[in-house]
Amino acid sequence: MKLLITGGAGFLGARLARTLLARGQLNGRKVNTLVLADLFPPPADLMADARVQARTGALLDQCAALGTEGFDGVFHLASAVSAECELDFELGLRSNLDTTRALLDALRAHRGTTVPRFVFASSVAVFGSDPALPLPAVVQDDTLPTPQSSYGVHKFICEQLVADYTRKGFIDGRTARLMTVSVRPGRPNGAASGFLSGIIREPLAGLDAVCPVAPETRIALASPARTIEGLIAVFEASREDFGGRTALNLPALTVSVQQMLDALAAVAGPEAVARVRFEPDAGVARMVGGWPARFESARRERLGLRPDTDFKSIVLQYVQDNPAAVTIPLRV
Ligand SMILES: NC(=O)c1ccc[n+]([C@@H]2O[C@H](COP(=O)([O-])OP(=O)(O)OC[C@H]3O[C@@H](n4cnc5c(N)ncnc54)[C@H](O)[C@@H]3O)[C@@H](O)[C@H]2O)c1
Repeated sequence: MKLLITGGAGFLGARLARTLLARGQLNGRKVNTLVLADLFPPPADLMADARVQARTGALLDQCAALGTEGFDGVFHLASAVSAECELDFELGLRSNLDTTRALLDALRAHRGTTVPRFVFASSVAVFGSDPALPLPAVVQDDTLPTPQSSYGVHKFICEQLVADYTRKGFIDGRTARLMTVSVRPGRPNGAASGFLSGIIREPLAGLDAVCPVAPETRIALASPARTIEGLIAVFEASREDFGGRTALNLPALTVSVQQMLDALAAVAGPEAVARVRFEPDAGVARMVGGWPARFESARRERLGLRPDTDFKSIVLQYVQDNPAAVTIPLRV
């Protein structure tokens, strides 16, 4: 089968690509070609695989050509992220809304006898608290999204487009709402939630980190491995098992920032935690603190998806996956 990952040079796109190449199949079909579309070229290890091809440049300019390629499946991950969209309103509209519509229309225009399966990466940022619709303590499968940022609004609109193009039979679309993914390796991107990786990643590299929210702030998190598992499960689910066209909330581990730092201390000692200093940032606190921290979902349980068990195991996963990025002695 021929697959497209947009945002394929990014954190999750590249990890998804590595996972699919290692599995060699998706939904029981051999992965012959994996096209990675991104503003940037994919990492060298991915380009070294003969099954991988790159399409480099702004996705909006590439959609028409990509539509003619006859993909069996698409993972649409390319996105300007939360803080970027708050800083640059036009960028958010173009990169997220216009590009997603153009991609869907290109697939619609060139669909053959079988429509491509299409997974869209939405976000916990579709939820927020509106005076008329306060956020409930626990988000359920039927909680209505009330996004409070441009990024969240664009994600929610695109969820609806994916559902409607599916209803019309143009694609076989499904949306997975991702929790904040931690620990992100490498350099931070423009996400408002970036510090939730930085407060672990930087101390493990012997560097200082800033935390812009209070230690008691609670977050809905998922590890990179659980997130990729969720995207693949959503792709592979039958329509009946996925259950409707409404977006699915992926599993969330609820932790406070303090619990994250306690896990860091258990792995790397109090010296590592001492590298994190608290410098409140009202804008970040409003955005990240406005996202829900607790989720319950019978739908994702039916798909067999479970949250990470605890944050210490997530820190250990990061250490195992990124040995070269951990430069301080560990206690485990
Ligand atoms: N990582 C998280 O915590 C998280 C949480 C919720 C949702 N998501 C969603 O998951 C997806 C992947 O996130 P990520 O963490 O890998 O982000 P990332 O920033 O690492 O990767 C996104 C990639 O998209 C590319 N991109 C952005 N705009 C583009 C454009 N106009 N044309 C072509 N490529 C473009 C970027 O170059 C980047 O490589 C995104 O849609 C994001 O909104 C991520």
